[in-house]
Amino acid sequence: MTSTAARSRVFVTRALPGSAPIEALRAACAVDVWEGDEPPPRDALAARAAGCDGLLTMLTERVDGALLDACPTVRVVANMAVGFDNIDVPAATERGVLVTNTPGVLTETTADLAFALLLASARRLAEGEAAVRGGTWGPWNPSWLLGREVAGATLGIVGPGRIGAAVARRGQGFGMPVLYSGRRAVEDFPGAFVPLDALLERSDFVSVHVPLNEDTAGMFGDEAFARMKRTATFINTARGGVVDQAALARALRAGTIAAAALDVTTPEPLPPDDPLLGAPHLLVVPHVGSATGQTRERMASLAVAGLLAGLAGERPQHPVNPDAWERRR
Ligand code: DGY
Repeated sequence: MTSTAARSRVFVTRALPGSAPIEALRAACAVDVWEGDEPPPRDALAARAAGCDGLLTMLTERVDGALLDACPTVRVVANMAVGFDNIDVPAATERGVLVTNTPGVLTETTADLAFALLLASARRLAEGEAAVRGGTWGPWNPSWLLGREVAGATLGIVGPGRIGAAVARRGQGFGMPVLYSGRRAVEDFPGAFVPLDALLERSDFVSVHVPLNEDTAGMFGDEAFARMKRTATFINTARGGVVDQAALARALRAGTIAAAALDVTTPEPLPPDDPLLGAPHLLVVPHVGSATGQTRERMASLAVAGLLAGLAGERPQHPVNPDAWERRR
């Protein structure tokens, strides 16, 4: 595998977590790593990618036809994320550029975060902590900071992929009946398949696990929130783009739903003066679903493996556009 990759030049758009992934890449290729903590600006990305055979990108890099045209030697783009909405996959396929992603290795970690958001929102942890630090913690009061019960509440999973299933299992462990919706029923999914409208109407907690694409963009808007219970909590650890944020803010302000907890927003980072943050009963964390050292290192290793396989002309474990690979054979 490494004989072809050994002659390859690759650009990595951020320092990788752990030492093993970058060492494996350096052992096989000439490696250039972006030195900043922030993503490379677009012109810098194009300049550093020029002349490279492969790119290892983060979800912050927009990889589209214009970028690929600016670096026509690039044959493989390994995205260190399970989501690949930052990549124009048809544009890559058209140009014979193989794209890989990193599914499977962040499932449990992201599910943990989704469930942490569910519990934190249900039990109003952020408000409680703010009260402790803000000096408004008074004597124990039987009616203060009352939250919503989790055991026995219905959990609705939208998007029955790996992460959705892992959140469903957590819900069952907490005594929650689980509903799920998606394009079709999934064998052995831990829950009952229902149409989306029924899920929204019946769930106490709605947790989103769909990829962002043209079918899902903005799927949670006024209509979806209006279908949900007034006591419901909306949780999103997928992508900010699946939500119409103005509609979410309206729903929270009007009491159409009770609360929301988000790991993902549009844009990211969300400016502190974004109107969404003025909405009540909203918990937002900064896209940390996969943020543990072990998981991020596994994601980096899988991205490196995808890049090396693609450069060596082998089928990677997780090709996003296998057509591009087939076409090059
Ligand atoms: C992904 O891999 O798509 C996640 O959003 C990163 O945390």
